[in-house]
Amino acid sequence: MATVLAIETSCDETGVAIVKNRKVCSNVVASQIAVHQPYGGVVPEIASRYHLEAINILIDQALEEASLTWTEIDAIAATCAPGLVGALLIGITAAKTLAIVHQKPFLGVHHLEGHIYATYLTQTDLQPPFLCLLVSGGHTSLIRVQDCGIYETLGQTRDDAAGEAFDKVARLLNLGYPGGPIIDKLATEGNPEAFTLPEGKISQPNGGYHPYDSSFSGLKTAVLRLVQKLESSQELPVNDIAASFQQTVVNSLTKRAIACALDYGLSTIAIGGGVAANSCLRQHLQEAASPHNIKVLFPPLKYCTDNAAMIACAACDHLNRGHSSSLTLGAASRLKIEDLMGLYQGINLEDN
Ligand code: KG4
Ligand code: ZN
Repeated sequence: MATVLAIETSCDETGVAIVKNRKVCSNVVASQIAVHQPYGGVVPEIASRYHLEAINILIDQALEEASLTWTEIDAIAATCAPGLVGALLIGITAAKTLAIVHQKPFLGVHHLEGHIYATYLTQTDLQPPFLCLLVSGGHTSLIRVQDCGIYETLGQTRDDAAGEAFDKVARLLNLGYPGGPIIDKLATEGNPEAFTLPEGKISQPNGGYHPYDSSFSGLKTAVLRLVQKLESSQELPVNDIAASFQQTVVNSLTKRAIACALDYGLSTIAIGGGVAANSCLRQHLQEAASPHNIKVLFPPLKYCTDNAAMIACAACDHLNRGHSSSLTLGAASRLKIEDLMGLYQGINLEDN
């Protein structure tokens, strides 16, 4: 039974958690949302500075809340890719330093593998294979989960990620940042059928449309045009626009996830990432999946958005398999999930 302390600093949440295999002993998060709000998005340099200020306090807090000492921790992990490089470096450097001082193994963790592992924190008996619909500020992917470290991306967005689309539409409606939770709330008071918006499809070179890939930039432009048309003549029906936009995104994600699960014979869809917190998506996907006997699993809201518990959970599984990372491991803004085994030493990719 591995016990891992993990650090998450890939974007604008500083997270530290201690997880014993799939049991969360402590999970603390310092959100920087209020700091970035005036800028309408995350400012990388400011994110790094705030991670640095928060990190030591959160590490102490995580140990205290778990009532554990360093001797009871088996390894130290940190998110190392993908994300903002300056922000990632704060977490990696802290984790490596702790690993050296306390003579423990260090593990770099892929952020998206963390989001996949968020489901395991509450569904502790879940076993692959299953499909993960990963919808965050930076990613919209349908990933076939085959084993720890073994993933295949079956579909993805060709432009904006789902969360990014929520954030951009919220910005053009002057609603604030981050847009997802605000649009989610306003949409409950709006009519999702008020406006028909384009779903966005990806053409295939040989004709037809790619069944699992999505595109949200056309939808965002359509909302912009709608706003420009309406605001000249009337007070903007913000709730109706929010509800219609949200419904279009949710329909697009649901359709692709169900088609993908059916085509690949996967009877479970786990959903992860910040947009997995969306109430309309949670309800709609569940309703659409049940006639096909597909089980839909959602992490609790606190494990949907960025947190270190999901990173620690992934690290526990890797540690149990004898994986650890070199202290020379760096941070990467991009890294395909298919390539994450390269983060660990002594791994022969062909053996996995
Ligand atoms: O996973 P996450 O915390 O960070 C990334 O790895 O990107 O996701 C953040 C994204 C933001 O774009 C935010 O607007 C979106 O998740 N989000 C939501 C909701 N809560 C957060 N989107 C739709 N509905 C929500 N309730
Ligand atoms: Zn994330």
